[in-house]
Amino acid sequence: MKAVVVEQYAPIDQIELKEIYPPVMEPGQLRILVEATGIGFVDGLKIEGRYQTKDPLPFIPGTEFAGIVSEAPGRPGGYQPGMRVMGMTRSGALAEEIVVNPEAVYPLPDGIAPEVAASFRANYLTALYALSARAMLCAGEQLLVLGAAGGTGIAAIQVGKLLGARVIAAASTLEKREFALAHGADAAIDYTQAGWRDTFKELTGGHGADVIFDPVGGEISVQTFRSIAWRGRHLVVGFAAGAIPALPFNLPLLKGGALLGVDLAQIPVREPDVQKRLMSQLTGWLADGQLKPVVGRVFALEDFRDAFRTMQTRGALGKMVVRIAK
Ligand SMILES: NC(=O)c1ccc[n+]([C@@H]2O[C@H](COP(=O)([O-])OP(=O)(O)OC[C@H]3O[C@@H](n4cnc5c(N)ncnc54)[C@H](OP(=O)(O)O)[C@@H]3O)[C@@H](O)[C@H]2O)c1
Repeated sequence: MKAVVVEQYAPIDQIELKEIYPPVMEPGQLRILVEATGIGFVDGLKIEGRYQTKDPLPFIPGTEFAGIVSEAPGRPGGYQPGMRVMGMTRSGALAEEIVVNPEAVYPLPDGIAPEVAASFRANYLTALYALSARAMLCAGEQLLVLGAAGGTGIAAIQVGKLLGARVIAAASTLEKREFALAHGADAAIDYTQAGWRDTFKELTGGHGADVIFDPVGGEISVQTFRSIAWRGRHLVVGFAAGAIPALPFNLPLLKGGALLGVDLAQIPVREPDVQKRLMSQLTGWLADGQLKPVVGRVFALEDFRDAFRTMQTRGALGKMVVRIAK
């Protein structure tokens, strides 16, 4: 089978697509023919060996995928050949085939394209967990989404709207702000401009942000916390800008504000019931058409490097997806 193989931690330009043997199955596992794989920021860090945890070499990157069950001896988890699934795993999804335990996959509702399914789970579960389980976002509250045209940002806009919030999108270019507005944001601001906090204050009638969804980090995070409303909640989601900010502790005191961490990887381990409830809410929205996950750009497997480059050069609108089976 064809697979992207990381033999040494290195920039994406040095990573190759190879012909290798398909993965071996153990009892109780499923073999999936991968149709599409979503590319996340963390995948890029893992390839370069810059993520908190390192995958042992060699490894196949790719964590989020959609595909068709091709082998399921004993029907583990009730799965059988021909069923369409979406899944999440530690690695291995940038390949024509993947072998996983049944807990790693979810049945795919009818009519959902593989590219959509591969863009769905990580970003939308992160957004819903952050906004509802952590920040307890209420209808009518003001939600500020940073990096709003990116993968998690666009998910936070859509989920925020479904939860009844007024959503203000912050993004660096006009194209990104228009993209955020087209996907449901009520207003958009350019947070790279000096004085953007004054514009934001006006947009909220002087109130500030009840909830801040922050996948960006760096200096912008500290500036944004200064625009939080009384009893506001600032969600720490990621550090796409690279730097981990340091918040002066007097700010939460003065603002009555809270800093809340969000870690998708720990939800199934620490809060499996919450994950189950949120996934059922998300798949319900997906199945009844209330939620239409945003696919940014779709790349052929041979062009997988371009999917990473687009994301790493701040050029991505929505989630980058690699189409695998034709
Ligand atoms: N906590 C969790 O469980 C969890 C789950 C998923 C992702 N994450 C993390 O969240 C972060 C964002 O992920 P994502 O999938 O939303 O990424 P993305 O699609 O690339 O979007 C990130 C956004 O950050 C902004 N940005 C600012 N400086 C940047 C820079 N130097 N390089 C790239 N982007 C920059 C960009 O918006 P502007 O150009 O508009 O500024 C960009 O659209 C990553 O750090 C990822 O690891 C965390």
